[in-house]
Amino acid sequence: MSSSPKRYTITAALPYTNGPIHIGHLAGVYIPADIYSRYLREIERDVIFICGSDEHGVAIPIKAKKEGTSPKKIIDKYHKIIKDSFENFGISFDNYSRTSKKIHHETASEFFTLLNEQNKLIEKTSNQLYDIKENQFLADRYIIGECPICQNLESYGDQCEECGTSLSPTELINPKSTLSGSNPVLKKTKHWFLPLNDYENFIKEWILKSHKKDWKANVYGQVKSWVDNGLKPRAITRDLNWGIPVPIEKVKGKVLYVWFDAPIGYISSTKEWAKNNNKDWRPYWQDKETSLIHFIGKDNIVFHCIIFPSILKASKKYILPSNVPANEFLNLEGSKISTSKNWAVWLHEYLKDFKNKQDILRYVLTANAPETKDNDFTWKDFQARNNNELVAILGNFINRVTVLTHKYYNGKVPKIGLLSIIDNSTIKSLREYPLIIGEKIENFKFRDGIQEVMNLARLGNKYLADEEPWKIIKTNPDRVKTIINIAIQISCCLNVVCKPFLPFTSKKIEKILNTENKSLKWNQIKKTFPFIEENHKINSSELLFEKIEDSEIEIQLKKLKK
Ligand code: 2FM
Ligand code: ZN
Repeated sequence: MSSSPKRYTITAALPYTNGPIHIGHLAGVYIPADIYSRYLREIERDVIFICGSDEHGVAIPIKAKKEGTSPKKIIDKYHKIIKDSFENFGISFDNYSRTSKKIHHETASEFFTLLNEQNKLIEKTSNQLYDIKENQFLADRYIIGECPICQNLESYGDQCEECGTSLSPTELINPKSTLSGSNPVLKKTKHWFLPLNDYENFIKEWILKSHKKDWKANVYGQVKSWVDNGLKPRAITRDLNWGIPVPIEKVKGKVLYVWFDAPIGYISSTKEWAKNNNKDWRPYWQDKETSLIHFIGKDNIVFHCIIFPSILKASKKYILPSNVPANEFLNLEGSKISTSKNWAVWLHEYLKDFKNKQDILRYVLTANAPETKDNDFTWKDFQARNNNELVAILGNFINRVTVLTHKYYNGKVPKIGLLSIIDNSTIKSLREYPLIIGEKIENFKFRDGIQEVMNLARLGNKYLADEEPWKIIKTNPDRVKTIINIAIQISCCLNVVCKPFLPFTSKKIEKILNTENKSLKWNQIKKTFPFIEENHKINSSELLFEKIEDSEIEIQLKKLKK
């Protein structure tokens, strides 16, 4: 690919609609994907940011059974909760679809039919686990047993959530049906398999040879270990009644495997976006000059780096991802986030307690993102980062600038005069920030990126502290005008680089600076100066962040322990 792609298709893992989403999801997938997409829009690239709800799979009917309701009611309920959480946190999808939609059923069925007609699938009858009491085959999460790798006694049939290993139900030690608790028997059934072994060389050439340097080490390492263990045919159908029916006449009671249809959901969501916006979806998936980036968590690596690319490759028309920047996991107060143990911070609950404080969480989860290793979220760290960084550094700087501008000049940007050496070097370094931060974002180093945003705020604070305008306002008023003018230019630049990371804060800064209608673009910082003309009137100050008290943190800790 050329150094600058013509367009970007950015996808974020489709969340399962069997529960709400928590801080782990936000930190691992949606915030990084959102920062990346917002940044690309800021530098005026052609980008679509695609997601949707993953509404098939066994987890949904299991949840429905537990709650005494229907799978449809479950997906409708959680689709709404999840979609609202994304909107509330400013995750700026261009389209958020659902895999239960007709457009998706059609697209996934077409993929299956195409592969089947081109003889790219294998039909095989094999022994599968069967629950005699329930009269049903036991796919994936209908089976629980001991993981052969880490000995976790509660591993699912498709994946061990403890060690992340992807499994098939017959590999579990002492499997039990989660439906009846009984020991399953083996029974013959026919399924369609994707012969992954046929794609081994392709994966070797494409990832192991070509992406050793530009893909993250954790992603590369997982792919390598899969390939080193030898790729095997993988069943892409299941004996279930919840999902997309296998599109072959006479085949009844079988559906497409959820991990076959879900990634195709990115394509159907793009089609839906294109239809609603009068665009052509094809270039976003089929033009070689498009950069396709999948944002996912580490448990999704094999599906996005081996299985889905093999399907795309087999179809011949589609492009492959240019990067899959998967993150590691976020723990909570030292322990693994767990839905079943209710050890999580749910987004919709956070918003009840911290109304309009989305950016604090966006900030903390970015500054402490599990980019290269698992990380821990603690409420104490959340409080400290808010009080010592957002309040004391970023908020403080913007507040000082606005208060001083109003105090000395009634809110009017004063005239810039002769520049000192320090003024010149401050202006020079501030203008480097968009480039530095942009480079971090383009390399998926969001933690470093947000650190640089803070460094710019630090630069502003240091400039004011060193120049001490309040001490010379009487003796050297012209000098003070220059200092305040430069401080306003720093605020303006700060607003621009905040945009991808802290969209709510940047809106507030824009309101304070009264630049809502003539907002400065990322790439203009290098080309123009000043960013705000003299005499421009800024609005009065509004506190960007407030201190979080110990009592608020204690409430959260108590909530967790309940
Ligand atoms: O792990 C998950 O939550 C899956 N629902 C992710 C699917 S990603 C994509 F392939 F759709
Ligand atoms: Zn395990």
